[in-house]
Order: sequence, then C-alpha cells, then structure tokens
Amino acid sequence: MTFQDARAQFPVLERLAYLQAGSVGPLARGTLDAMVAEEERGLREGRGSLARFERVIAEREELRGELAALVGVDASQVSITASTTDGCNIVLAGLGLGPGDEVVTTTDEHFGLLGPLHVSGAKVVVVEPDPELIVAAVTPRTRLLALSHVLWTTGQLLPVHELKETTALPILVDGAQSVGTIPVDATGLDFYTVSGQKWLCGPEGTGALVVAEPEALAVGRPSYLSQQRHEPDGAFEPKPGAARFDPNLTPHALVAGLRAALRAQPEWRFERAAAAAERCRELLRDAGADVVVPEERATLVSWRVPVEESAAVVARLAEAGVIVRDLPGRGLVRASVGWWTSDEDLERLVAGL
Ligand SMILES: Cc1ncc(COP(=O)(O)O)c(C=O)c1O
Repeated sequence: MTFQDARAQFPVLERLAYLQAGSVGPLARGTLDAMVAEEERGLREGRGSLARFERVIAEREELRGELAALVGVDASQVSITASTTDGCNIVLAGLGLGPGDEVVTTTDEHFGLLGPLHVSGAKVVVVEPDPELIVAAVTPRTRLLALSHVLWTTGQLLPVHELKETTALPILVDGAQSVGTIPVDATGLDFYTVSGQKWLCGPEGTGALVVAEPEALAVGRPSYLSQQRHEPDGAFEPKPGAARFDPNLTPHALVAGLRAALRAQPEWRFERAAAAAERCRELLRDAGADVVVPEERATLVSWRVPVEESAAVVARLAEAGVIVRDLPGRGLVRASVGWWTSDEDLERLVAGL
C-alpha cells in the first residue's frame, strides 16, 4: 500500500489537517462500509436467529485473535472491551484492593485510569513520570503499578517492561496512546489496555484488555455471556481465558468495523508515524514554538502555551482547518501525528499557528 493509497482511505483528510487520533482517530471509508453492511444485514435478516448468533460469536473470536496478534499475546489472554477505561475498571474490580494497599501512578495519567484507581479503595501514590521516582515510591504495601505506556500529555514513553522487571510488582499499563502508533509487545506485563477508537482508527466503543494470567484475576464485573455456567442464585463458573472478563457482547457492527480498521493499517505504519512526529517537532521548533521533547517519545507532539490561551489556540487552528486539542489546566496544545499525516498537514499546522 502506498502512502497516497493509505491516506486516501480517510475522507476527512481531504478537508482537514486532522491531528486528533489521540482522542479519536480518522475513520476510513472501509471501516464505515463494514459497519453499515453489518447493520443492513441485521435489517434484512433479523438479529436473533441461531445462525446469526453463531456467526457473531465466530467473528468475535476472530477479532480476539487479531487483537492478540497486535500486541504479541495469545488470544486466550485478551478480553474484548469497549474502551481503555473499561479495561482499567475490570482489573481494579478484580484485584480487590483495600485501605491497607498502595498503588503507584504518575501525575500525567488520564481519568480513564485514575478514576478506577480512586474507587479501588487503595491509597493512590502519585509521582512525576520519571522511572527512578516511580521505583522509589514503592513500599512494602504497594500492590500495583498503574501507568501509561505513552503519556497523553506529552507523548513521553515510559519503560513499562523495565519497571515491571525492577519492581516485580503487578503492573497495569494504560495503552490508550500506544497501540496502533508504536510497536507494542505486551508479553511480560500483567495487564495492558487497548483503545480501538484512537490510533487504530476503529469505531468508538471498542477496545481490549490483555490479562497475562486470566485465571489469577477475579471476575469483579460479571456479564452474562462471559460465563460458562450460572446458577439460579447467580453463582457462576467463568469461561476459560480472558473472555471471562468481556463486559458485554460488543454491537456486531463495531466488531466488523474494528476488523476492517485493523486491515486498513499498512505495514510501514510505525516508521512513518515516528518520522512524521519528528518532522512535526522540527517544524514547530523552527516556527518558534516551545515544543516538549521527552527523551523517549511516541507520536503525540505537545507544545507549551500560556495556560489561559490553550483553548484559544485550538479554536484558531480549527478555523484554519487544523484539528488539535488543548490539555486543560496544563498549558499544552497537542497534535496527534499518525501514519496518515502528510507534510502538507504539518505545514498547515505551522501556518495556522
Ligand atoms: C492515556 C489515556 N488513557 C485513557 C483514555 C480513555 O480512553 P477510552 O476512551 O478508550 O477509555 C485516554 C483517552 O483520551 C487516554 O489518553
């Protein structure tokens, strides 16, 4: 697939310099077509026949395998969720933490992780996203490290495998800003979340959770179709593997859409996204922007502006057809640079500034 062919899949790119995959990725024509085709089929054939149910289950399992392959794990270790937030909630509900326990996280986490941590009952210990400080915050009471692979604020990459090795603690990795834009190997990590709607350009309401040892995590939020058997009093026997954590039966149009989105990804995506992000940083720096350049970084590009101006900068860029976001209260504006981003998009960003 050439760059032009790959880019042409996304109609939005004909009009806008769309730099917002960190929130919601651009939608490919083929992804929408797959979703519409599935809904049309339901319209014509009905949605409750045994034949449809069997097809839905079979295709869902194929998706599970495809998501597993994305991050280098076995399909039995993947739960199909609706979001990263869903995945974080499943893990925290299953760990059964309490007031005597501590969880170490960073100052730069998203509410999608922080919210579930906060209601877990454990003491949440927050430190700067510096590997040495994270390790230094560990005490005999620490039960979990919970942090992002790529920080949504600055694009900084955290050495999650190294942190796991150094501390030997269970680790929950928020993969919302990593999967689809940098190579990810989730092996060796206890829990790893995936958002489908961001860098994978899938439908909204899709995601996954990797659980390295599914049988070792309690089912804290049981759902009907994820159990092998259940009794009249509600007692249940979970399905084998991480399918036991599936929080719902994903609307099948979304399954079809996410599978189409995965097929639309070119092989060269990671190299191209990394190069485009470096180019973005260079152009912004040359234009005088105060760009944040973490030593280890992915493809989110942030630059500093006065706190009270960040929303205005985003609005001004939107008027120029450039879609980015501000990070409220942090004085940062963020461009999400993907494998589909062209030099023209980046030049438009700089001109719009
Ligand atoms: C680091 C991070 N974690 C979690 C989320 C929430 O993702 P989801 O909507 O898939 O729950 C986001 C989305 O903005 C994010 O950037």
